[in-house]
Amino acid sequence: MNVIDAIESRRSVKAFDPAHRMSEEEIQQLMSLAVLSPTAFNIQNWRFVLVQDPALREQVRAASWNQAQVTDASLLVVLTADLKAWEKEPNRYWRNAEPAVRDYLVNAIAGYYGGKEQVQRDEAMRSCGMAATTLMLSAKHWAMTPALWMVFILTQWPNCSTCLQITPQPCLWP
Ligand SMILES: Cc1cc2nc3c(=O)[nH]c(=O)nc-3n(C[C@H](O)[C@H](O)[C@H](O)COP(=O)(O)O)c2cc1C
Repeated sequence: MNVIDAIESRRSVKAFDPAHRMSEEEIQQLMSLAVLSPTAFNIQNWRFVLVQDPALREQVRAASWNQAQVTDASLLVVLTADLKAWEKEPNRYWRNAEPAVRDYLVNAIAGYYGGKEQVQRDEAMRSCGMAATTLMLSAKHWAMTPALWMVFILTQWPNCSTCLQITPQPCLWP
């Protein structure tokens, strides 16, 4: 499917076949594309939580106005973000750049985000929105749309479990 067809035919699916199961390979393919999404300064601040445990799904559903999609979709991706990714070894985001370029950008990152809570929050929303679009359009390509549901949680990774009021669970991508 080409990109225009994917954009034109994408829909927010409400009814899922709870018996359908995406393969591990499909999930890997999908998430490998999600992490190619752009982020400002390449800080890759999104954190994707793949919720696979049925009991946890029920908890997320309860926190999501009891929407059936949360438990019935084959894959549930919670999009959250590390609001402090920008200050965690920022050299690694530019490790393949010329040293002068890397130094300039790492310095710019600190200046852009340092002490600015609102900017950090805005960046989380931007990055998660971009990644969500990649996920949705990629899912269309493989006709996975009837299997994928996403929940946006704006909170600082790793505190998303507190916000969701669910027990922490380990399945985190990447
Ligand atoms: C940030 C965001 C949150 C949404 N939340 C829900 C939701 O909780 N439940 C739901 O069924 N659809 C949700 N939607 C889907 C919208 O209702 C849907 O995109 C809109 O009605 C247009 O329909 P379409 O996506 O099929 O073109 C959400 C969409 C966005 C962008």
